[in-house]
Amino acid sequence: MNVWTTRGNMDIEAQKRAAGEAAIEFVEDRQVIGVGTGSTVKYFIDALAKIKHRVDGAVSSSEQSSKLLREYGIQVLDLNAVGTIPVYVDGADECDGARHLIKGGGGALTREKILAAAAQKFVCIVDAHKCVDVLGGFPLPVEVIPMARSYVAREIQRRGGMPVWRTGCVTDNGNWILDVHGLRIDDPEKLEADWNQITGVVTVGLFAHRPADVVLVGNGRRF
Ligand code: 5RP
Repeated sequence: MNVWTTRGNMDIEAQKRAAGEAAIEFVEDRQVIGVGTGSTVKYFIDALAKIKHRVDGAVSSSEQSSKLLREYGIQVLDLNAVGTIPVYVDGADECDGARHLIKGGGGALTREKILAAAAQKFVCIVDAHKCVDVLGGFPLPVEVIPMARSYVAREIQRRGGMPVWRTGCVTDNGNWILDVHGLRIDDPEKLEADWNQITGVVTVGLFAHRPADVVLVGNGRRF
């Protein structure tokens, strides 16, 4: 899947750029930066390239972001060699007022959750249409071990969701994704904890136990 492609109009595109560029203020000299995936993050990477002499490298959440970082001459490092990362910048598909997120529209949710967990500060960059009162309008991505796909789908149906197999999508980890429609997520922490217990689930694309620390919206709002 080409996660650089946007589905919006020029206003949304301008907001993505503004949010991506705004995140540069969180980058300090001689740091290794955590870098996420998606069309909003691409603007952050473009801006990061302009100050690349100031940073020690990046840890990336996808092969696609790693490729772009390398093309810009930014060294891509292994998280195991880096340890804690001071700041992680990534987009989201939906964000509520408590900075809980739905992520994984670009299929990179597992590595994104690992980077968010390892980050001291998680900076989320979005355009305004991603901000919602209640999560669930965007189908919730769930990465699954391929042989468990139908079992996990039945378990999700039992919990009231409508899973759709994202055909043709194989994650960077060699797994598959179910996009779960028809949800109204009133208690994101509970749903994340419960669904994480379904055998065969690798990652639920709900970032509630580890929400963003700050959300930069492309219209200038931040919270
Ligand atoms: C990738 C993600 C992305 O951050 C999310 O899909 C937002 O992407 P975009 O900035 O292209 O709208 O979670 O797995």
